[in-house]
Amino acid sequence: MSLPVLTLGTAAVDFVSGLERLHGPVTVVRRCAELAELLAAAQSGLARAAIIAGQTQDLDGGVLERLHSAEVSVVALTDDDGERLRLEALGIRTGAETVEPEALAALVAESAAQLQGTWPPARAAAGAAGPRLAGLADPAGALRPRDADPGQPGMPAAKGELVAVWGPAGAPGRTTVAVNLAAEYAAAGQRTLLVDADTYGASVAAFLGLLDESAALAHACRMADQGMLDREAFERVCLKVAVTGTSLRVLTGITRVDRWTELRPSALGTVLELARALADVVVVDCGFSLEHEEELSFDSMAPRRNGATLRVLELADRLLAVGSADSVGLPRLVRALDELEHAVPSTSAEVVLNKVRAAAVGARPEAQLREAWERFGPVREIRAMLPADPAAADAALLGGSVLLESAPDSALRHAIAGLAGSQLSAPRRAPRRRALVKVKF
Ligand SMILES: Nc1ncnc2c1ncn2[C@@H]1O[C@H](COP(=O)(O)OP(=O)(O)O)[C@@H](O)[C@H]1O
Ligand SMILES: [Mg+2]
Repeated sequence: MSLPVLTLGTAAVDFVSGLERLHGPVTVVRRCAELAELLAAAQSGLARAAIIAGQTQDLDGGVLERLHSAEVSVVALTDDDGERLRLEALGIRTGAETVEPEALAALVAESAAQLQGTWPPARAAAGAAGPRLAGLADPAGALRPRDADPGQPGMPAAKGELVAVWGPAGAPGRTTVAVNLAAEYAAAGQRTLLVDADTYGASVAAFLGLLDESAALAHACRMADQGMLDREAFERVCLKVAVTGTSLRVLTGITRVDRWTELRPSALGTVLELARALADVVVVDCGFSLEHEEELSFDSMAPRRNGATLRVLELADRLLAVGSADSVGLPRLVRALDELEHAVPSTSAEVVLNKVRAAAVGARPEAQLREAWERFGPVREIRAMLPADPAAADAALLGGSVLLESAPDSALRHAIAGLAGSQLSAPRRAPRRRALVKVKF
């Protein structure tokens, strides 16, 4: 059977005529004039593969994901070495613009077979049906840059702990916990990265007093999409924030809520895997909503605003669910934990009640909350109660600093430090030389 392919662009040789002369393995069913036409043709189910020649710069992770989800594999032809490396990092098969027709047909067949999970053939012979299913569940699975594969030589195995800080709507204190927890880890000598993945109200930059408009996380995702996120690029894009003599790395969030499409789940996943390979602890401040919009529409191409949060929660080693300790916040947290159990069944959240105060729940607030939780909450222990401390919280916000610096003796700071757990007992690293030396992970 001949493989139907789409083409886009021209190469140094007329590869379409070359393929047609073979009268065999590959049939060009449409020569597309532009990328939009190629994507539309792919979605209509016309072809099994696409050859993109010459002008490949628009071929990024997003385009590849769309083609793969339409079950169309990609071969790119380029004579530019840098471009070839970029494309290969995205998992795309490449050839020279002068590739012989037979070799091109073989590349197309390999790429199509790989997308179907039947490549290499030995695997197919063993009857492996799994990869095809896996590919459909995560069409971007093949997009991860090779650098991010812990099995690749030259890349340390991912080992850092990914701590997600999440919670329902209503400002229960997710960012307060995430920022201060990250500061505690960093001060204890852990190589720490703080990531703002909130697609509804990114605020880590404001908490840290950064006049940052760069949306570093979106930048990192863009590079991951293009297959250009290696260790050096990652270090360049992270901001460095001084915390009590050491530094905390930060990937700031999107500066406008309408930029949420820039945090595509697969790209964010790549960024977080790489982050984990380079840091001891990665603390992620998450958005609150978990609704699967795409499940409602059954449109696998629809962008997913909550996809970023879901991907973080799926990848997290540890998940802190922060709720406000009052009669509005508690029921919200209970509902959110219920949603969480459906959305990410594999995860187990640690419940953190924040802004604990007698004025909201009565005398002996901790006992009151425990009792209410036992009656109405899910069967899950309360991991921590953080006191309401408006003076300390406001002073930190005003100064753009962390509690460790602006209110080191406050009960709130100590309670958040307690959440860092055993990692804080790790010996503190020797102070690094600052200023002249670029601090590396
Ligand atoms: N324990 C606390 N005591 C007093 N104020 C707090 C406490 N935790 C958070 N806040 C304040 O509540 C507001 C919302 O916190 P924030 O961390 O931005 O919430 P979220 O990230 O969940 O939207 C901020 O003004 C913050 O300073
Ligand atoms: Mg927040």
